[in-house]
Amino acid sequence: MATIAGELNLEDGPQPDGGFVDLHCHCLPGIDDGPATPAAALDLCRALTDDGITTVIATPHQLGRYDGRNPGDSIKKAVAAWQSVLRDHGVPLTVLAGAEARLDERIPAMLASGAVLTLADQGVFFLLELPLGADSDPLPLIRALSRRSVRTIIAHPERYRAVMRRPELARAWVDQGACLQVNAGSVAGDFGAEIARTAWQLLSQPFPLLVASDAHDTHGRRPRMRLAADLIERKLGRDAARRACIENPWEILRSSAADQAVRPQLELRFSAAAELN
Ligand SMILES: [Fe+2]
Repeated sequence: MATIAGELNLEDGPQPDGGFVDLHCHCLPGIDDGPATPAAALDLCRALTDDGITTVIATPHQLGRYDGRNPGDSIKKAVAAWQSVLRDHGVPLTVLAGAEARLDERIPAMLASGAVLTLADQGVFFLLELPLGADSDPLPLIRALSRRSVRTIIAHPERYRAVMRRPELARAWVDQGACLQVNAGSVAGDFGAEIARTAWQLLSQPFPLLVASDAHDTHGRRPRMRLAADLIERKLGRDAARRACIENPWEILRSSAADQAVRPQLELRFSAAAELN
């Protein structure tokens, strides 16, 4: 039987152009720890399309070690410039502006001023990164943003030491309205056995969860969406793979642009459980 990654042009699927939407990717040249040069960024964007991705949200790092760099306006300009380079080179990839911001108490004010960006700059979903090793509590920020109708997506929870030790932490974040974004590479084992185990634990729970590439290059941090979709389909079933890799990312993109009155209905599509084989 063909896998979902092998037949992305599902007529009953949500994707308007037949591909994956990748909500977390470092694909702009010379802006963060993604590709250093335009040539390397072109290689990465071609690798994204080879992996079945047709729309990507460029999510350069903000805050943390990038504090004072990559303000929202310059990311938006860089995306517009890069989109035209891709067009000139015939790379069939739509790039939208976003960011992956490190946990910081200034975030609500910086979102309001436009210094920090939401996904697709729509003011609906915000991609939040926590320090990998240190215990830190995103709940006050998740709640503060929720009061402003901004929904937090926690970037790669499986990579945080605190979640590896206590996966139930993620449940507390979800209970306060957060979504979880698992890296395709984590599912594939690129970050080691412990992170893979944590990723599968999260995937097997009834969480609002999606998979994204978090790709940085064409080597150690390359796009792995097809492989992740295949692995999830094999282990958790076709519905779980479709939900995490295709439907939820597209729903997030679509509901970002939707009228506010429609959004609560769109969120219902997240809930589902799966058994880990
Ligand atoms: Fe990232």
